[in-house]
Amino acid sequence: MNTFTYEYPVKVYFGEGAARKSLGAELAKVGKTVMLAYGGGSIRQNGVYEELTGILKEAGKEIVEFTGIMSNPTYAKVQEGARLARERGVDFILAAGGGSVLDCCKIVSAQAKTEKDIWEMEFTEHRFPDEFIPMGAVVTAFGTGAEENCGAVITNEEKKLKSALFGAFYTFAVLDPSYTMTMPMRQVISGSFDALSHSMETYMGSPREVNYSDEINEATQRNIIRNIRAALADPEDRQARSELVWASAMAENGILKIGKTTDFQCHMLEHQLGAYTDCNHGQGLAVLHPVLYRHMLPEAAGQFARLAVQVWGICPEGKSEGELAEAFLAALSDFIREIGLPTSLREMGIPETTDLKAIADSTVLTAGCAKKFTAKELLEVLQECSAF
Ligand code: NZQ
Ligand code: ZN
Repeated sequence: MNTFTYEYPVKVYFGEGAARKSLGAELAKVGKTVMLAYGGGSIRQNGVYEELTGILKEAGKEIVEFTGIMSNPTYAKVQEGARLARERGVDFILAAGGGSVLDCCKIVSAQAKTEKDIWEMEFTEHRFPDEFIPMGAVVTAFGTGAEENCGAVITNEEKKLKSALFGAFYTFAVLDPSYTMTMPMRQVISGSFDALSHSMETYMGSPREVNYSDEINEATQRNIIRNIRAALADPEDRQARSELVWASAMAENGILKIGKTTDFQCHMLEHQLGAYTDCNHGQGLAVLHPVLYRHMLPEAAGQFARLAVQVWGICPEGKSEGELAEAFLAALSDFIREIGLPTSLREMGIPETTDLKAIADSTVLTAGCAKKFTAKELLEVLQECSAF
């Protein structure tokens, strides 16, 4: 195994009623002015807003609302939040939403504390913020695991980049599966596929031989696949929903990454696809994964073959490593079709005129990927995905 240091700073409150049970005590530790940050309004429709504002008022907090955080949050929205936090003297941020709200707030919390431009600080000066407004997360949409880490995926519209900035960790995260019951099924599926992708992208890194982190990872992938099917069969299945919430967290809380250099090449490509098209993250991954993985086949056959057997239940008897790797690729593609995710950029509604070359050229090439991609080969991947 690689050497590692493992520390986990986020306190997780999991289960039905978690907000009511935990928030009072957590809020007692923070200042009076609390920014309640949320997205386009789903929390106002499903009762989460009433519950949270009720708890905040009981705790004697003054509430500053930061609303309208969009999917694929923009750097401009971060600046809006930071201005509001500064103007109103916000002491604490309570972020309620999916990955977009949670990511946006991670950078609001840093930007509010400095006059420097965080984007320039991180990407030009290669320095990271060290002062933050403390934050808590209330997860209403699972998949990204954004509550578990300090990375924030932000779209800089001017620069046409969707990049990971480093922000603050949440002090605590409330994971109440009942809050996610109103997620549209399309988001349940794309979010779950995102969690599966995080697991696969971690697995596909190095070391590439059998190791403990990957064995836990295999169980996580099996769990996600089983529970996506269960959630599709019965959208009211609370057991499936709660397992998906926790499996999504497990994929991003660092445990599967212990001792590993991760891959995440597919994510880097999808993020740039998002920068140019504002597409749904999980859907983008579903289109890209099988095509990118076919390009990785010669280098990654051993890992693919293991996934075929350990995750997809394919009988290894009488099959070569190459045949098992092919069987994995077929199983993944079949599953994507089975659960109704798109299989081409066209199906995602991405216009034919999209500048695929600019997307490939601006994609970060990752260190942990089994194959060292070039921008030229990423362009081939995108072209194969487009099927226009
Ligand atoms: O905005 P509202 O009205 O709340 O609606 C949202 C949004 O339309 C809705 N929603 C959320 N909870 C709901 C609900 N609707 C009904 N009931 C509920 N309980 O769901 C829609 C999608 O929400 P969003 O937060 O955009 O989705 P997701 O959680 O998939 O987050 C996507 C963002 O996270 C980034 C992605 O790139 C993308 O920007 N990621 C963040 C990661 C991280 N920080 O670790 C890792 C990921 O790889 C990913 O890149
Ligand atoms: Zn993701």
